[in-house]
Amino acid sequence: METAATKRAITFLQPRMLVFGDGCLRDAIAYLRQLSQKTIHIVGSRAMSETVELLCRELTQAGCTVSVQIPASGEPSIRSFLAAVETARAAKPACVLGIGGGSTLDMAKLVAAFVDNPQQIEGAFGIGLLRERHCGLVCMPTTSGTGSEVSPNAILLDEVAQLKKGVVSQHLVPDAAFIDPTLTHSVSPEVTAATGLDALTHCVEAYTNRYAHPLADLYALEGVRLASRFLVRAVKDGHDHAAREGMARASLYGGLCLGPVNTAAVHALAYPLGGEFHLPHGLANALLLPAVFRFNAEAAPERHAAVALALGAMPGKNTMETVNHGVCVLENLTRACGLEMNLEKHGIPRRAIPRMAEAALTVQRLLRNNPREVTLSDAQEIYAQCFV
Ligand SMILES: [Fe+2]
Repeated sequence: METAATKRAITFLQPRMLVFGDGCLRDAIAYLRQLSQKTIHIVGSRAMSETVELLCRELTQAGCTVSVQIPASGEPSIRSFLAAVETARAAKPACVLGIGGGSTLDMAKLVAAFVDNPQQIEGAFGIGLLRERHCGLVCMPTTSGTGSEVSPNAILLDEVAQLKKGVVSQHLVPDAAFIDPTLTHSVSPEVTAATGLDALTHCVEAYTNRYAHPLADLYALEGVRLASRFLVRAVKDGHDHAAREGMARASLYGGLCLGPVNTAAVHALAYPLGGEFHLPHGLANALLLPAVFRFNAEAAPERHAAVALALGAMPGKNTMETVNHGVCVLENLTRACGLEMNLEKHGIPRRAIPRMAEAALTVQRLLRNNPREVTLSDAQEIYAQCFV
């Protein structure tokens, strides 16, 4: 399907080594053991402490000097990042290994970039403003959602502005990524749902993006198919390995779209839900996705109908009917994951709509990717639809 952007050049920035498969934790250990400089700093999530212990033991036995940092749970803030980078500096690592969910990987990526870099974080928010990274960087995701292990993005909460801020840079793409779906089996149903819906949103927003491109469409549409087929199964039974493997692929495909195409209005409007009301990132996206999908479809009906069909929606009598079937599938998928769709049920009052809309409009780096312009009153209307 042609888009206005088809003829533009597209740039994929990917890890030099991408390993996907059951048990590839062993490949990650082998990779780290053969590094010429063997000072390794692990940034790991608490949920993965047993795996982190195993990594420490094996790497130490192989002659590596290993330090470990477990960031506080929850999404990272500027303050927690500054503390983490200070701790990492003492270890003087040649390589940072991030192992955990998207928040942990984002933290690991930023720690690697800033551990020996005089630049201040404030000057790096935005696209292409991070100047360099000298430290090695390896990422292993243990949830299926952000695709952070292959993306140039990292997000921090600015507690003062109550806004999520992003660093987007080629220097944040890890040198190597190891995706082992067996590591995701122990993820709770709630986190599986929220992260999986984030992966789905990445794929939907890539395919319907103003800058959609055939090279990214391949990943985006297949990611939509996989998430639609496997997400509820993974939520209902964490040990359904086919579902876990399918969601790991959906997450990877979404992540591969983040660099060259990136997200759009769903993520922009979700940021205030995370920034002010601390909703998990994936949940915030899931609550907004159907309303934004409906809003955007007017500007790119064929693309939205294609997503609807990839979601498994019944074809309608015309394009917009197919789109509407797709909206129903999205809503049903979210509910089948056990999530309430109404923002009020998540502690967000209606009176927050005007200020959330204003905050969302500041995220122009994503809104400019949206297939349809979002005005302040559009943003208010979209939020209002999420209260019914
Ligand atoms: Fe996301």
